[in-house]
Amino acid sequence: MKLLDDDFDGIREYDNPTPWLWLLGFFVTVVFAGVYFFYYHVGQGASLQDEYRIAQAQMAQGVAQQGTAPGAAQPTTPGEDPHKKVLAIMADSAQQKRGQVLYLARCGACHGHDGQGSVGPNLVDEYWLHGGKPEQVFALIADGNPQAGMPPWKAQLSPEEIWAVVAYVKYLAHTTPPNPKAPQGKIEKD
Ligand code: HEC
Repeated sequence: MKLLDDDFDGIREYDNPTPWLWLLGFFVTVVFAGVYFFYYHVGQGASLQDEYRIAQAQMAQGVAQQGTAPGAAQPTTPGEDPHKKVLAIMADSAQQKRGQVLYLARCGACHGHDGQGSVGPNLVDEYWLHGGKPEQVFALIADGNPQAGMPPWKAQLSPEEIWAVVAYVKYLAHTTPPNPKAPQGKIEKD
């Protein structure tokens, strides 16, 4: 191997060739930079801003097709009878279980795990503050009544999940747990 002439305080260097892997990496980045430049800056490649605009347009289109913003609850599909919907959920054990699990996780703390009431009103009698019809119960759960301490759920639960909970609330209305909270609201049979 050739010893170079440079002398750094008595330290000399060999004239070693650059390792081939390093050289390969170097040429790959040079080629990549050229391809990148011609595709994204000269050619058709979409810039980050373009991709962002495309994604926004796709989202706007999706919202327009659905008719509502993502996460917004829709009461029922048009023409569907809310009573029949609730009965269908009650007849389907998987759906019923779904409603129960959601209720225990999200609602039991305020309405009692058996619906007997606590911070919120009991859900086991025929007295309702906001109406006992399935679509009224749906609307209240979706929108809540935040001033009175009932949170809105439409951002956390899908319409189908809210329907499952409505069916569970309607089921609770026919149960008689011990020590229910005093009735609130008006008697309403549906
Ligand atoms: C942070 C406590 C809290 C949680 C959690 C909560 N609620 Fe409520 N809820 C309330 C309060 C307080 C009211 C009474 C609102 C009013 O006076 O208008 C209420 C009212 C209601 C009513 C109306 C009762 C009536 O008599 O008309 C229903 C139905 C109901 N909640 C269902 C639910 C369901 C289902 C969930 C779970 C998805 C839930 N709530 C979670 C506090 C809560």
